Amino acid sequence: MSTEDQKKMLLDPGFELTLRPMRYPSFYDRYRDAIKNTWTVEEVDLHSDVADLAKLSEGERHMIGRLVAFFATGDSIVANNVVLSLYKHINSPEARLYLSRQLFEEAVHVQFYLTLLDTYLPDPEDRNAAFAAVENIPSIAQKAQFCFKYMNAVDHIDSLQTKEDRRAFLLNLICFAACVEGLFFYGAFAYVYWFRSRGLLHGLATGTNWVFRDESMHMDFA
Ligand SMILES: [Fe+2]
Ligand SMILES: [Fe+2]
Repeated sequence: MSTEDQKKMLLDPGFELTLRPMRYPSFYDRYRDAIKNTWTVEEVDLHSDVADLAKLSEGERHMIGRLVAFFATGDSIVANNVVLSLYKHINSPEARLYLSRQLFEEAVHVQFYLTLLDTYLPDPEDRNAAFAAVENIPSIAQKAQFCFKYMNAVDHIDSLQTKEDRRAFLLNLICFAACVEGLFFYGAFAYVYWFRSRGLLHGLATGTNWVFRDESMHMDFA
C-alpha cells in the first residue's frame, strides 16, 4: 500500500497534517473564499440606530433586545461547538483551516452583538438582563438547551470509532448547521429585515448582512 493509500479519510480517527497532495481541495477553496469576506465591527456605523430606537414602540424595543441577546449567546454556543465537537474529529488539514476561519467569524459575530447591546442598552442593569436571557427567558433558554443536547451527545467521544459515534457526530453537525445557524438565525434575521424595510436600524441591518453572508457559508461548508 502506498503512503497515499494509507492517508486517512475525512472522518477516520487521526490528524492528517499533509496539505500536498491535497485530498479535499474544495475545503481549501472555501477557506480562501471566506477570507475574502473579512469585515470588522468598527466598519458598522450604529449612530442612526440609537436615534431610530427612540422612535420604536416599547414592544418593538423589547423585541430588538431579545433578538440581539439571543444572537450574542447563540454565536458563543456555535463557536464552542466548532472547537469542542467538530474540530477534533475532522481528519483533513484543509477542512480544519476552514473551521479555524469559521471560529474567527463567530468571534466577530459575538463582538458585533456585544457592541450592539452596549450601544442599544446604556443602562448596565438592562445589559446584564439581556445577556442573562439564555438563563432567564424561557424561549431563549429552550433554544440553548436544544444546542446543549446535541453537544452533550458527542461530549464523551474522543474519536469516531463506531457507527454510533459517527451518527452522533453527524447529528450534531446537521443540528447546528441546519437548525441553529439555519432556522434559528435566519428566523431572527427576518425581524431585522422587517425593521430595515421600514427604513429603521441600518447599522443592525448592515452587520446582519455580513453575518448572514458568513452563516450561509458555514451552512454550505457543513
Ligand atoms: Fe455566527
Ligand atoms: Fe456560524
